[in-house]
This record gives sequence, structure tokens and C-alpha cells, in this order.
Amino acid sequence: MNIKKIGVLGAGTMGAGIAQVSVQAGYSVILIDVVPEIVEKAVDGLNKAWTKAVEKGKATAETVANYKAQLIASTDINDFKDVDIVIEAIVENIDIKKKVQKQLGEICKADAILATNTSALSITEIAAATNRPDKVLGMHFFNPASVMKLVEVIPGVVTTNDVVQTVIELSKKIGKEPVLAKESPGFIVNRILVPYINEAANVFYEGIATAAEIDKAMKLGAGMPMGPLELADLVGIDIILAVCEFFVKEFADSKYRPSLAFKQKVRAGHLGKKTGKGFYDYIK
Ligand code: 3HC
Repeated sequence: MNIKKIGVLGAGTMGAGIAQVSVQAGYSVILIDVVPEIVEKAVDGLNKAWTKAVEKGKATAETVANYKAQLIASTDINDFKDVDIVIEAIVENIDIKKKVQKQLGEICKADAILATNTSALSITEIAAATNRPDKVLGMHFFNPASVMKLVEVIPGVVTTNDVVQTVIELSKKIGKEPVLAKESPGFIVNRILVPYINEAANVFYEGIATAAEIDKAMKLGAGMPMGPLELADLVGIDIILAVCEFFVKEFADSKYRPSLAFKQKVRAGHLGKKTGKGFYDYIK
């Protein structure tokens, strides 16, 4: 299938980043969120990123004008009726994802692909809720989506090879490196990365070192580009907690038990950068 028009559902951090790279690769993109303020914030952020690119000499004013013309922002999900693929990047909740994907199946044209950007959830379960499980697959981007090169491509049990190949090609065209992963909780990266971040939160909770010391140690001692706790703040502590809880449930293995530090911070509404406070304070 030749993808020409991309729909992105969810204009939060991930959706905005996915829309950005898709536009920059020359695609027409419809970015939709049901909350008008979130759409406005996303478009504002994209315009700022493109203005910065012009200032840095990385893009011309003409290129940026084209980007803006290629992007349509909307709050009406029915605007997806003629897209070739929807990349859904909404809240990480299986019931909501199933409901929304079912709705997408009813709105989109019959041959449209439905991709879901999920951190860990079952693609097969999401696909089974739609009228086209053979055209549903996981397309897992990494935060910040405009920068990180990887896209994990995860077929569900009945996803066709044609759909997988189309999405692998699309990932390359938007400047990403696709890696195919079998369906399994957390796929490749989060299966490894989330327990690592969780252990860092345990070290913090036990008072072994401060957040800054833990992050400094992992950057200088293990060559990480970013410490685990600043990464938790970037990704969202609620998301990391949800992945840990999902692992405990799916694997029935207490080794994935979430750190109490995550629970405490989520209860306080300290979800990381997006709320201004997490392991660090971003308001000061
Ligand atoms: N959003 C958008 N762009 C960002 C950004 C952000 N939050 N942070 C940095 N950038 C951009 C900068 O603007 C810069 O762009 P430019 O080259 O066009 O000027 C570029 O990234 C490099 O930034 P910097 O030079 O300031 O910073 P670094 O060299 O330190 O790189 C980083 C920043 C790429 C974020 C690096 O620290 C890194 O790789 N960190 C680890 C990130 C990571 O592990 N992400 C995966 C999280 S797990 C996940 O997302 C899965 C989910 O399911 C939980």
C-alpha cells in the first residue's frame, strides 16, 4: 500500500512528535485530539520547533511554510475518513485504546492501517476490538519522538505481512530505524528499560543516594545519555508505573513490582516534566 496521508490521534508529547517527523518527511498529516487546548499546544510547539530550525539554519522559511501547509489540526475524529494510516498515540489504557480503535475502524476507509503507539499493551487484544484486526499493529516510538531513531514494529497475531512491510517502509521514510518485535509485554526496549528505571527508583526510595547522584552515577559510570530518574520524569512517572503494573499482571512475577517511589509520586500528582514536578522540580 502506498501511504500518502497520515492521521495521528492524540496530540500529547508523542503524537506531536510523530506528526512532526511525518510532516518533515513530506506527508500530509491530520493531527487530532478531542481536547482543543491539547491540539493548540501541540501546534504551537511544532511551530516553535520549526522556527528554531530556521534560526539554526537547519530548514529554510520556505520549507517550514510547506510543513505548515501539510499539517491539518482538528478535534473531529471523523476527519480521518480518507487517511491511509492512523497512528494512535492516546492514553496508555487498554479499554480506552480498544474503544477508540473500534471507532477508528468505523470511520477510516476499508484498507486503512490502524497503528497503535503503546508502551507495552497487547496488540492482538486491541486489534480484536476492531473490524480489521489484520490491519492493526504496534508502532512504538520513543520519547522524544522527533529525535529518537527507533520504531518497534509489532504485528498482532493476525496482522498481514503486507501491513507489516508497509509500516516498516513508512518508518524508514519518516527517518526512523524499524525493529520488528514479536508481541510480548513491553516488546524489546521497555522490557529491559523499565525494570532498570524501576530499580533506580528503589535505590532512591531506600535513600541510598539522591536523584541527582543516581543520575550522575549512571551517566558517568554506565555511559547513559540521561540518568534513569530524569528519564522517568521525561517519559512520565505514571507511564512507567503503568508499565510495571502491567508486567506484574502479565508475567505474574513479582520481580517487576513497581517502586513505592513511583506510587507516592503519582498519588501526589508529581508525574515528571509534564506536571512540573517528579524526581526533579521544573517550576523553580
Ligand atoms: N523534545 C524534543 N526535542 C528534544 C528534546 C525533547 N524533550 N530534548 C532534546 N531534544 C532535541 C534538541 O533540540 C536537539 O535537537 P537539534 O540537534 O535539532 O538541535 C537534539 O534533541 C539533541 O539535544 P541536546 O544536544 O540538547 O541533548 P542531548 O545530546 O543530551 O540529547 C536526548 C538529548 C536525545 C534526549 C538524550 O539525552 C537521550 O537520548 N536520552 C535518552 C532518551 C530515551 O532513553 N528515550 C526513551 C525513553 S523510553 C520511551 O520513550 C518508551 C515509552 O514507551 C516509555
